[in-house]
Amino acid sequence: MVQDEKSIVTPWEVSGDLDYAKLIKKFGTKPFDETLTNKLAKLTGGDIHPMIRRGLVFSHRDFDWLLSHIESGGDFALYTGRGPSGDTHLGHLVPWFFTKWLQDKFDVELYFQITDDEKFLYNPQYTYDQTIGYAYKNIEDILAVGFDPEKTKFIIDSQAGPKFRKLATEISKRITFSTVKAIFGYNESTNIGLLYHPAIQAAPCFYPSIIHGRKIPVLIPAGIDQDPYWRATRDIAKKMGYYKPVALHSEFIPGLEKGGKMSSSNPNSTVFTTDTGKVASKKVNRAFTGGRATIEEQKRLGGDPGICNVFSWYRSSFEEDDTALQKRWDDCKNGDLMCGPCKMDLADRVVLFLEMHQSKKEDVADLIESSIIRV
Ligand code: TRP
Repeated sequence: MVQDEKSIVTPWEVSGDLDYAKLIKKFGTKPFDETLTNKLAKLTGGDIHPMIRRGLVFSHRDFDWLLSHIESGGDFALYTGRGPSGDTHLGHLVPWFFTKWLQDKFDVELYFQITDDEKFLYNPQYTYDQTIGYAYKNIEDILAVGFDPEKTKFIIDSQAGPKFRKLATEISKRITFSTVKAIFGYNESTNIGLLYHPAIQAAPCFYPSIIHGRKIPVLIPAGIDQDPYWRATRDIAKKMGYYKPVALHSEFIPGLEKGGKMSSSNPNSTVFTTDTGKVASKKVNRAFTGGRATIEEQKRLGGDPGICNVFSWYRSSFEEDDTALQKRWDDCKNGDLMCGPCKMDLADRVVLFLEMHQSKKEDVADLIESSIIRV
């Protein structure tokens, strides 16, 4: 658990001013550097995802090891997840698109865990049926991202099969109360369901090995807030005869309003995949920007894209072309681009994306059942 005066980053809450260099130190991970980018490029035919090119994937555990493993002919599986506590928003989708890129490049299986149990146990206001219901709604959004349906398997915790549950129990025998207390900040008043959850979230790290009957490492693209789980899992992996999970950590996407990441608890700051174009466009047009008080001032002094949430949205997902992104930055700084048209342009792109995403969701409805793994 990492908490200081300015920010909170735990598996359940991420808020405040995030200093990513500090987070690397606090979590004890490694910065994602250029050597890694180059090593990755050799395996992807030179193609590098914008989130890596732009430093949004900022930290990792053992990714260098995984690349060497792949170079020498080894395979791996992807593992990521979602806590179904409500509708999906764009901040969730961004790392999933990155995960899809990894799946496309390496043609590997993806195990996608849906922790409906965790969300029920953590949030006093939910019934179990509610979080199970969200699990199915969220899977539609996830499949609409375009994962390979043949190679993507959802583990819905409430419906996980006997092999999965056996594995979680084996893991739980090796994790003590004092470990979860230290890593997750649990205490005597934490319900006992949550105390067990680290074993459930660790299980997909070894599950592909069980499914295929041989040792397969997993690569987990996720927010750094989930890292405590991987730390606990890495500690026991060798002893249990598995590879340690490898992790890639990406930055959180800011909300539209000032301060903090995109979050369901602040709907004005967040575009949900269920928003209508009209609602989404209104939200974008009210976003916090790096603009000046008046147009005259902005023409004279330029804006500040470095603090602008609209610019961050272009950078993280709505402008793939590096040259166009750089031009947007320069035009803003030079006072040639005003916030009005810049927001309007983003709103158009967001609306177009929503239309596409919503229509893809209809197409994937039939795939849901066959993508759930229950062994
Ligand atoms: N605990 C995560 C959440 O609340 C869900 C999750 C499970 C997950 N397994 C994961 C997220 C692996 C990232 C990677 O959102």
